[in-house]
Amino acid sequence: MPPKRKRDLPELPLNTVFQADCRQKLLELPEKSIDLIFADPPYNLQLKKELYRPNLSHVDAVNDEWDKFSSFGDYDCFTKAWLTGVRRVMKDTGSLFVIGSYHNIFRIGAILQDMGFWILNDIVWLKNNPMPNFKGTRFCNAHETMIWASKSEKHTKVTFNYKALKAANEDLQMRSDWYLPICTGDERLKHNGEKAHTTQKPEALLHRVIRACSHPGDVVLDPFFGTGTTGAVAKKLRRDFIGIERETLYVELARKRIDEIVPPLIPDEMLPFPLDTPKVKIPFSMVMEYGLLQPGDLLRLGKSATMATVMDDGTLSCNGMRDSIHKLAARCLEKTSANGWEHWHYKKANMGEYQSLDALRVELRKIKEEPLSDSTMLEREAEGERTCTEQKVG
Ligand SMILES: C[S@@+](CC[C@H](N)C(=O)[O-])C[C@H]1O[C@@H](n2cnc3c(N)ncnc32)[C@H](O)[C@@H]1O
Repeated sequence: MPPKRKRDLPELPLNTVFQADCRQKLLELPEKSIDLIFADPPYNLQLKKELYRPNLSHVDAVNDEWDKFSSFGDYDCFTKAWLTGVRRVMKDTGSLFVIGSYHNIFRIGAILQDMGFWILNDIVWLKNNPMPNFKGTRFCNAHETMIWASKSEKHTKVTFNYKALKAANEDLQMRSDWYLPICTGDERLKHNGEKAHTTQKPEALLHRVIRACSHPGDVVLDPFFGTGTTGAVAKKLRRDFIGIERETLYVELARKRIDEIVPPLIPDEMLPFPLDTPKVKIPFSMVMEYGLLQPGDLLRLGKSATMATVMDDGTLSCNGMRDSIHKLAARCLEKTSANGWEHWHYKKANMGEYQSLDALRVELRKIKEEPLSDSTMLEREAEGERTCTEQKVG
């Protein structure tokens, strides 16, 4: 199972497929609890007649009851209702992907903006193998559009694994045009020998969305779950999921599909640090508060002979100058700016070599991310732990 991230939230019904109308079900989920939402709503294709190929064979187009709305106004009301629910359950760091075609995506885009969502990108899914325009009266419709949005303009700290995406893309920035085939072959679920669902999405599409905008252990919600593509990929990528789908057959198919997936067995300790996790900020005063340095300790500037004294207010003093670790390093190096953590070096009593202050920052980051247990704190106090025993200056 995915590593569990700390959730200070009411219990979520994780890894569950609800048979329900999402407009109702979303109201029952806790507020601000979901990291990522993927929504593939009805397209409102408004197909009036059956479609046939030139050889008169029948085209299995989207003509399902769930795709029928009486008017654009009716579709817009429906859209506003589910988007209201989605907005309530989204975390402030969460984001929403909505996929659609020219039939619905422009209406959805306008409604998103009217509701205050903030569009971050639109992604074009270019289908390698689209269905031809059989009548030969229009361009072959070879793409769908995905809108990626945050809750509002204010919500800028959205999860986006930029570096990881780039690293897995030949070190090139991931672009907004995605060439992926439609769902075919063994991946396409069958029911009584027929396509089980007219609009089953390819797993590759969800793979990219989920990798881009969530972390292992995050919760991904899909309010129009269909055959459960989102849940299947979430499980493969060690995320938790919640699916909502109205139709009994799709719910059953989705549950079976997901149950059959064995999630990858990667021990948590083998997981790399996420490349894009912002580093926790450590103020220099923390080094002193945790007793890793004390007032009067001496720090050396790189390999030079310049030494500075740690002052009791958290500044450094050197050659009549007194400033922060960064500004003093910059002044001594005659630069406009410098990273004091890297330039200043300390030496423990029992260690031969000087080490950069950054080593202490790394130690403190670990403490900040995972606070020490009471017993470790007591042990440290008992040992009178003190790392820098350079001779003090008077
Ligand atoms: C475009 S399909 C989603 C297909 C899905 N992404 C997949 O890969 O299988 C839309 C789905 O939404 C479901 N649906 C329509 N209205 C709904 C509602 N109000 N609540 C929940 N599900 C609904 C339909 O039954 C249909 O399965």
